[in-house]
Formats: sequence, structure tokens, C-alpha cells
Amino acid sequence: MLQLSLSWLGLGTLAASPWLLLLLLGASWLLARFLAWIYTIYDNSHRLRCFPQPPKRNWFWGHMGMAKWKRLASEGSTRLDMFEHISLMTLDSLQKCVFSFDSNCQERPSEYIAAILELSALVTKRAQQIFLHLDFLYYLTPDGWRFRRACRLVHEFTDAVIRERRRILTRQGSHAFLKAKAKARTLDFIDVLLLAKDENGKGLSDEDIRAEADTFMFEGHDTTASGLSWVLYNLARHPEYQERCRQEVRQLLGDREPPEIEWDDLARLPFLTMCIKESLRLHPPVTVISRCCTQDVLLPDGRVIPKGNICVISIFGVHHNPSVWPNPEVYNPFRFDPETPQKRSPLAFIPFSVGPRNCIGQTFAMAEMKVVLALTLLRFRVLCDEAPPRRKPELILRAEGGLWLRVEPLRADPPRPCTQPLADS
Ligand code: HEM
Repeated sequence: MLQLSLSWLGLGTLAASPWLLLLLLGASWLLARFLAWIYTIYDNSHRLRCFPQPPKRNWFWGHMGMAKWKRLASEGSTRLDMFEHISLMTLDSLQKCVFSFDSNCQERPSEYIAAILELSALVTKRAQQIFLHLDFLYYLTPDGWRFRRACRLVHEFTDAVIRERRRILTRQGSHAFLKAKAKARTLDFIDVLLLAKDENGKGLSDEDIRAEADTFMFEGHDTTASGLSWVLYNLARHPEYQERCRQEVRQLLGDREPPEIEWDDLARLPFLTMCIKESLRLHPPVTVISRCCTQDVLLPDGRVIPKGNICVISIFGVHHNPSVWPNPEVYNPFRFDPETPQKRSPLAFIPFSVGPRNCIGQTFAMAEMKVVLALTLLRFRVLCDEAPPRRKPELILRAEGGLWLRVEPLRADPPRPCTQPLADS
């Protein structure tokens, strides 16, 4: 079991699974659940529409790097590493949703975004070096030094936003503050946290808010970038599904000008949703999770996992189990066709995990993936690169050397078949 100090988030040494290292355990899960609950209420009452500039040009739209891709592909077609570009896009949109901050990091370097990317890379590297799990050793190494410097930078950014926002909140009072935010539709995650109170009317401390905001920045970018990169790859390998998704989006948008997707549209993209789900099955962004048994667990073959043991659960293994998923290596979106529901256990498909510690960002992630995929397919065709990618399961499922695809702006010619071998490595 890995032991890492998460002191940069104001916590002591904690037992952490590889995935939990990524989660950074920044905030108490109770707090996180509380926030999930707030978000559900916001979602249900459609108050999420208060986010910056919705529904037109809302969070993802302006933060999708479409202009950049268009420019890069201006010669007709270009090779792009999906992870590199999409991670910047997911960071950009998260920074907007969490802090209302336009980093424009897809166009020009951002110190804050660079620090988050560096921290993610350092956490992954450290997880593989068991002797560096001790803080005092780690901080003596150049990586440890870089880690602390990047943490400082991230914290300073978050602290400055919280300080300024709290100043405004104190001056205006919560009622006027919320009213102004709702009117201007500029409510963001920091505002939600600042306004949150427990049943005794006690709010969150600045440290709590910082931990929550930083956790969301970390949780939300790599995972969603991995999900999106692999779905684009799967659609590049299957141009017929790619075209069907595109037709679905075109039909939905009709002659809407500008072609923007609104909240209610998200439920009107059934085939695109099936494609995303099948990709999350075949290439789950989080491949393993771990759980500590709180009671003896009896396995079907009679063996018992004793209480107190920590089990690693392979999401990848569950999603590739041939007794549950016939021909598990085949990308077949119709497995998720709501018209022909399959008799499968609800635990057969668990990209966001299940139970009380499942992903609290899954609705957000699915919305982001649908919007980004729909608008990307509307403007671009994605094609396979020459060499098929090799899966690289780190804390997040990546591809060795990046996930390279060819992207071309759409013209009227029909989709070309993919020449790449279908066998995934
Ligand atoms: C495709 C995208 C995503 C995938 C596949 C994914 C997957 C997961 C999984 C499997 C877990 C559970 C880990 C465990 O059980 O140990 C988790 C937890 C979590 N995720 Fe996500 N996630 C995604 C996107 C996001 C986004 C966008 C956010 C935030 C904006 C987010 C925030 C969180 C948080 C805070 C937790 C910890 C919850 C807790 O411990 O109670 N995730 N995610």
C-alpha cells in the first residue's frame, strides 16, 4: 500500500491507492459528497445555467480550441497528439468553471496550467518510485523540489481568487452576491463553495475551499482528456460510426446559427452517447481502483477475502471480461443501445466506479465529452495515424508517445475507410 503525504493540500500522511494518489485526497469525502449534493440541486433546478455565458458560448464552447485546430489544419490535414491538445482544452474549461478565469492556455503559455500539468506528471512518476514515497526523501530530490514549487504556484493562484471573492462577498452580503451572480450568470465553483453552509450555518474555511477547487482541477482534466482522446481514436477507426454521429449532430442543430449546443440538447444525442459509453468501456480512463474490505467478502468459489484487506479492482478487466462482454476487443456502440437493453449487471460497466466513493464529476464529464465530441465532429474529420497507438496504463489510460490522429476540416467528400489494423495493442 502506498503511503504518501498529501501535506501540500494541508493533510498529513495517508494511505493511498495509486488512483487515490491522483485524487490527492485533497478534501474530505464527506465534504465532496456535500458538494456533489449541492451540484445536484443546482443541476436539477437548472441553476448551472448561471455559469459564465450560458447557454450560448458557455463554458466548453469558447474553450474548445476549435480555432486552433482549424488553424493547424489549414493546409488540409494535420497530425495532432490528442492528449496534448485535449488536456489543455479540459484544463481551460475547468479553470473557467471553477474560477471564472480565462487562461487562454491553448493559445499562449499559462504558468498555472503548466504547474498543474507538471504536478500530474510528477505524481505519476512518484507513484512508480516506491522509495520516494517518503516525503522527506522526495523533497530532497530535484523532482521533489519542482513538486513543491508547482504546488506553491497553484496554491497562490487559488488563494488569490478566494481572497478576492470573499472580499466581495463580505462587502455585498450573501443575498446580494448570489443575486448579482445569478443575474450576470457568472456563478462558478468557488462561489458555490463560499456560499455553502452546514446545518449549523458554518461555512467552509479558505483552506477547505482551496482543497476542493484544486482537487476538481486535478480530477477533472486528465480523466476527461483521456476519455475524449480515446473516443476520437475509436471513431477514427470506425468512420461509419463517426459519420453517423455527425449526421445526428447535424440533424439536431438543423440550421441553428451559430451552431451551439444547449443544455437540453445533451439528451438528444443518443448515438453519440452510445459511442462515448462504448469507448469508456473499451478504454476506461481510470483502469484500477482500490477498496479496503470493511467485512469478510465471500467469493463465488468459496474463498474469503478477510476484512481489513485492500483489494485492487481492475475496471479494465471488468470491461474486457468475455463472459459479460462478447468479443470484448470489438468497438461496438450498439452494446449500449437503449432500444435493446442488455441483460447485464449494473456493475458490468463502471468507468466512474460505483458506490459511495464513485466519481462526483461524472455528469459534468459526460456533458463535456458530448459537447466537445459533437462540435468537433461538426467541423472536423478524424482519421487514424499510420502507427496504431499502444495503451499505456498509468494512473490514467494514455498511449505510449501520445495518441496521434489526423484531423482535417470538413469538406463534402465521403469518409475514407481506415487502413490501420483493428487489433488494439
Ligand atoms: C471521463 C472522465 C472521468 C472519469 C472516467 C472519472 C473516473 C473516476 C473514478 C473511477 C473515480 C473513483 C475513484 C475510486 O473509486 O477510487 C473518480 C472519483 C472522483 N472524480 Fe472522477 N472521473 C472523470 C471526470 C471527473 C471530473 C470532470 C471531475 C470534476 C470536475 C471528477 C472529480 C472526481 C472526484 C472529486 C472524485 C473523488 C470522489 C470521492 O472520493 O468521493 N472526475 N472519478
